[in-house]
Amino acid sequence: MKYTVVDSYEKLSRLASNLIASQITVKPSTLLGLATGSTPLGTYKRLAELCKNGDVDFSGVTTVNLDEYAGIDRSDINSYYYFMNTNLFDHVNIDKNNTYVPNGKAEDLEAECKAYDERIKNFGGIDLQLLGIGFDGHIGFNEPDSEFVAGTHVVTLDESTIKANARFFESENDVPKKAVTMGMLSIMQAKKILMVVNGEGKKEILEKALFGPITPKVPASILQLHPDVTVIYTPENA
Ligand code: F6R
Repeated sequence: MKYTVVDSYEKLSRLASNLIASQITVKPSTLLGLATGSTPLGTYKRLAELCKNGDVDFSGVTTVNLDEYAGIDRSDINSYYYFMNTNLFDHVNIDKNNTYVPNGKAEDLEAECKAYDERIKNFGGIDLQLLGIGFDGHIGFNEPDSEFVAGTHVVTLDESTIKANARFFESENDVPKKAVTMGMLSIMQAKKILMVVNGEGKKEILEKALFGPITPKVPASILQLHPDVTVIYTPENA
């Protein structure tokens, strides 16, 4: 595991975007696993700049996002589908037909989860997965549990996750209680993992995940078993 601490959010975003851009340059048909949240925003902004300058080409890239709220419409400004389009896909030369976010409004969510895993498998797995970490140690929306769940599945969000994500909604009550998340298998089978983390408040859980016992109570701790993980942390807030 490569654990890099940098002194600014700007530097974190620069390093992370450079890593993603290099991956795409080395393999133009990359299957890129993406995350939402505040931390990757600077990375996405910089990827858009790199693309505008001709320094990265998204035309052959396919993306799969980690998660989506259940029951939320894709046109809803709080959907992760909307987030990805407005923060990245609208600003790079990607074919939007090749961007996948779980459909949290699918009539049959179980079938949606199965199809999501099949799609990733048929692509031959994720080449590079971008991750953040939740205050409770979640990756994607894999919340602390008594076991690691392998496949894409529906989860009930933890109180702490609902509280943390309330900043995007009018009130805490508006935060969906359930979500669809990629499970641990697709994440752990990604060839490379890049985790970005910012803020003093995340340091304790990050170090627990990286250096503490491997346990489903701290979902991100499973990354200790992955052969190619890069973590970039800055104490600076976004
Ligand atoms: C979002 C996701 C979450 C976030 C995590 C950190 O797609 O998968 O696991 O990465 O909650 O979020 P931020 O970056 O807002 O601290």
